[in-house]
Amino acid sequence: MVEKREHWGSRFGFILAASGSAVGLGNIWKYPHMAGSNGGAAFTMIYLLCIAVVGLPILIGEFVIGRKTQLSPVGAFEKLAQKSWWKYVGFLGVASAFVILSFYSVVGGWTLRYTFLALTTGFESFAGNPDIASDAFNSFVSNAWNPIFWHLIFMGLCIWIIVNGVKGGIERWSKVMMPMILVLLVILMVRGITLPGGMEGVKFLFLPKFSDLTASSVVLALGHAFFTLSLGMGTMITYGSYLGKDQNLVTSGILILVIDTIIALMAGVVIFTTVFALGADPGEGPGLIFTILPTIFPQMPGGHLWGTLFFFLLFLAALTSAISILEVVTAYFIDQKGWSRSRATYVFGSIIGIVGVFCSLSLGGFTDFSTVFNISFFNFLDYASSKYMLPIGGMLTAIFVLYRWGIPKFLEEIREGQKGKGLPDIVVKVLFSIAIVVVFFIIANEIVEVFTGSPLIG
Ligand code: TRP
Repeated sequence: MVEKREHWGSRFGFILAASGSAVGLGNIWKYPHMAGSNGGAAFTMIYLLCIAVVGLPILIGEFVIGRKTQLSPVGAFEKLAQKSWWKYVGFLGVASAFVILSFYSVVGGWTLRYTFLALTTGFESFAGNPDIASDAFNSFVSNAWNPIFWHLIFMGLCIWIIVNGVKGGIERWSKVMMPMILVLLVILMVRGITLPGGMEGVKFLFLPKFSDLTASSVVLALGHAFFTLSLGMGTMITYGSYLGKDQNLVTSGILILVIDTIIALMAGVVIFTTVFALGADPGEGPGLIFTILPTIFPQMPGGHLWGTLFFFLLFLAALTSAISILEVVTAYFIDQKGWSRSRATYVFGSIIGIVGVFCSLSLGGFTDFSTVFNISFFNFLDYASSKYMLPIGGMLTAIFVLYRWGIPKFLEEIREGQKGKGLPDIVVKVLFSIAIVVVFFIIANEIVEVFTGSPLIG
């Protein structure tokens, strides 16, 4: 009954698919506004340190677990640690995927609607008027039906790509979308830097202002390192499970990390050159993209085109990430329950789509019935997943490698496909230990803040 597992068609295809998962709203929306309000380059330096020290070991760890077992998270943990509770770490991953995709896809719908709006109106009526733009944004997201319509289209696209499989869906479309993302970013970057006053934005992003850096920026950078590399819920275990033994997982991991970082930095340049050239406020925060940029585009030459390209870029980045989240859920039902790919994808893609509808309604269309712990269902899912589920999943994965599976066996698997001897055991042990301690600290900090009202640090 066991069919041969589907594999990536090429190393290049795998790298693009995995970096497609990593590059998403985290890079283009979250990173720039976080750097904007936390000391520019000072924040970036801490963030780079975090991805190198905490992100890289866990990223490679996930690839190794996936490739060794050739299974998605639940099966992978079960195979490496039989008859133990470790498989629940896999279940936590599937649950996180479910939760994250329900709101990620709502935001994916927003990017589609803004692409459409840019294309058809060029944001003309928003020119230079943040109040109008933000009213328009708020009334859009809190409308009952409009955002749901776009969310369902977005979810439909995800389902369609995933139904087509690893090679014919994920890899094929990543090969189309990732180069498009890069080209669009380069075009938008050149346009931004050449705007009069645009270089001010580059300075803002790259000159460190240590005075703006607070302890809480450090915690923020750590959490983001996780999110941006798609860690902590088995996405990279799942993508690793479609790999053959000939791949060098260390160099692949480094390459994916570098691509992810460069794209975040480029997105920062695109946004801040634009913001500075037209004198808008760089510290605007999360609303920067949907409320400030649409007021700027119509004021610049060719703004109609630039606005459309920008939101299309955002949509592509969101889609390549969203499919990697859906694949975790689909792969679970294929590997563990023996379902066919299309059945698993249609059934669970639809259920996630429906949960997403409630998420969207909770922002205004239907608030009375959709508040959990006094915050909207949408914010609740976002909060639960990024503050708890992902860090806990990532920490447990690192603990698993270090204590349960063991570094010698882990390195044995890494060395397949690697030419040299690689790092000595002790260094790898130290790296994983640091990652565990650091992530534990982030979670503890958050819990202390919830219970006492003030965090340990920050
Ligand atoms: N990394 C993506 C981003 O930066 C989001 C993402 C995709 C993700 N898959 C994930 C985050 C898995 C956490 C876990 O937007």
